[in-house]
Amino acid sequence: MTSIHKICLVVTLLFSIVVADIQPGQYDYGFTADMRLRKRAPSQSSIVSGPPRFNGEVQLRPDIRDLQKDEDKWNLYLLALSWMQFTDQESPFSWYQITELQDRFQEAAATFRIPYWDWAAVPPDGDSVLPPSVGDSPFINVTGPNGPQTITNPLFSYVFRPFNTHALDVHLPSFQQRLYNLFSNYPIYANFSNEAWIPGPNNGSYDSLESLHDAIHTVGGGVYGHLAIIAYSGFDPLFWLHHANVDRIFTMWQYLYNDTYVIPQPAVYSSHTTSPGQVENSQTPLTPFFVNETDFWTADMVRDHQVFGYSYAEVANKSRAELVATINKLYGKFSPASIFTRPDRSLRHNSRHTKHSNHRGSYKANGISWNSQSSNRPFLGAIFRNGRYREWIANIRVNKHALGGSFSIHLFLGDVPPDPSLWPVAPNLVGTHGIFAHKSVHGHVSDRMVTGTIPITSALMHMVASGKVSSLHAEDAEPFLKSNLKVRVSLANGKVVNARHVNGLCINIVSSAVKAPESNSTLSEWGDMETHFNLLA
Ligand SMILES: *[C@@H]1O[C@H](CO)[C@@H](O)[C@H](O)[C@H]1NC(C)=O
Ligand SMILES: *[C@@H]1O[C@H](CO)[C@@H](O)[C@H](O)[C@H]1NC(C)=O
Ligand SMILES: *[C@@H]1O[C@H](CO)[C@@H](O)[C@H](O)[C@H]1NC(C)=O
Ligand SMILES: *[C@@H]1O[C@H](CO)[C@@H](O)[C@H](O)[C@H]1NC(C)=O
Ligand SMILES: *[C@@H]1O[C@H](CO)[C@@H](O)[C@H](O)[C@H]1NC(C)=O
Ligand SMILES: *[C@@H]1O[C@H](CO)[C@@H](O)[C@H](O)[C@H]1NC(C)=O
Ligand SMILES: *[C@@H]1O[C@H](CO)[C@@H](O)[C@H](O)[C@H]1NC(C)=O
Repeated sequence: MTSIHKICLVVTLLFSIVVADIQPGQYDYGFTADMRLRKRAPSQSSIVSGPPRFNGEVQLRPDIRDLQKDEDKWNLYLLALSWMQFTDQESPFSWYQITELQDRFQEAAATFRIPYWDWAAVPPDGDSVLPPSVGDSPFINVTGPNGPQTITNPLFSYVFRPFNTHALDVHLPSFQQRLYNLFSNYPIYANFSNEAWIPGPNNGSYDSLESLHDAIHTVGGGVYGHLAIIAYSGFDPLFWLHHANVDRIFTMWQYLYNDTYVIPQPAVYSSHTTSPGQVENSQTPLTPFFVNETDFWTADMVRDHQVFGYSYAEVANKSRAELVATINKLYGKFSPASIFTRPDRSLRHNSRHTKHSNHRGSYKANGISWNSQSSNRPFLGAIFRNGRYREWIANIRVNKHALGGSFSIHLFLGDVPPDPSLWPVAPNLVGTHGIFAHKSVHGHVSDRMVTGTIPITSALMHMVASGKVSSLHAEDAEPFLKSNLKVRVSLANGKVVNARHVNGLCINIVSSAVKAPESNSTLSEWGDMETHFNLLA
């Protein structure tokens, strides 16, 4: 047993003890439903397929906050998750069969699709980034075939309380900027999709959906949390919610750039069925996911996500312009990209923020982020020049296996708090990039260079708005960043590592002159990426 397995086992045991000790546990169906379902269980199959269409129509995956407003579907979801958590994982069952317990749930089940958790959107007033159903209470009320009951909340996760809830709020500006940049500046699948470093003449695409996905795991998982998550994440509903959101982002991106997809590339490292150097293309079998008794799914077969029987409100029956308007509205808040298109920009006032910070559990961004609704709007000449403003980004490249496990790279403006345990929630934290890595199984550390980014624009806008730097232009921002931007590296267990000793770590501060959209139906237009300085030089 490797040590990571031991740690996971201990965490899993602790987790089950905690759960087992707390009443009231699983929903009481009033009879031994377990036996009923076992009898009806179909023979197990490893064929992957989506739920059937309902009346010939593809159903939408909902935002978890919206699912909660649909009483039947919400109850069904909780009952199913509760069932899975309290039933022997080996027992073959289909949770769809729970619907046979009550007719009313049947339509709810036929149109049910798993929800997603949008970790990049500003939450509704009074909420934090982590939805209350996931983060607030170890118990939850549910109505099933045996009436309303209070059960152990199957969505609640102890690793997220209370610290990482704050960390998720603090990082929202960073995650949202990264996502907006991916939508607006990554028109090529090879660059958008994965974190592998593709050496090239251009420094414009250090981020990727995979890299942003990793950062949610490490920041959300926090100290110790993410060590366990890599192995047991499949049992945690929050990570299904996270992954459904990654699927959704990928679908939205495909809708924007539908002429680019998987191109043949040699595999960088081995998997159970491929070896390094072997060329993979859009028809390479995606093992171990069978499409039928003999064949595996391929990338070509899943290019249209609707083969799995679901879609998303952002794309279903929508024009490209409508999708772009949604992206601008949901994800354009923390950069000047949205300065001309935010409908409520004339209504900005301070009371909003006062209200937020007084409300228990409500979202509060970090102390140095700026957003387009902020009352602190700098003079336009300090932002724009020739109709363009400058997006500032830290391009990060590092050996994924540099530290034999997951680690975090943090950027601060000004003095770094001496206590590393406070870094994830420090008021002057600009952002954190998380490297989500296994402990090397075979004991050897492979060279695998990966890239990611930490956007700096929102923090710089805050500095411009508060008069600490005169403008966003290079002649002011570059020297300011040179003397104030600080980097720190920490391991999953909180241990601090000197950034200069991390194998392959290179952090370049880059910028691009960007044209902000003048209407909500266009995205921002990026210029070439210019390299300013190496933070570790
Ligand atoms: C469940 O409902 C009861 C009665 O409405 C309420 O008092 C209780 O606070 C609820 N519990 C939870 C965990 O929401
Ligand atoms: C995107 O990836 C291609 C290789 O597929 C590379 O040639 C190009 O430079 C990348 N674009 C940017 C902006 O980095
Ligand atoms: C891309 O979108 C266009 C316009 O909606 C459509 O005609 C075309 O079939 C799409 N291509 C793919 C590969 O989905
Ligand atoms: C399995 O799926 C593949 C790909 O769609 C198809 O070519 C093949 O005929 C299928 N085989 C069976 C036994 O259905
Ligand atoms: C898309 O439009 C069709 C035809 O109007 C309609 O039947 C269907 O319900 C719509 N789908 C969604 C997801 O709104
Ligand atoms: C985009 O702008 C149009 C016209 O100004 C407006 O009608 C529409 O509601 C906006 N869309 C979004 C998603 O804000
Ligand atoms: C890209 O970044 C490297 C440093 O990693 C730098 O040497 C090179 O000049 C940059 N390329 C451009 C086009 O700015």
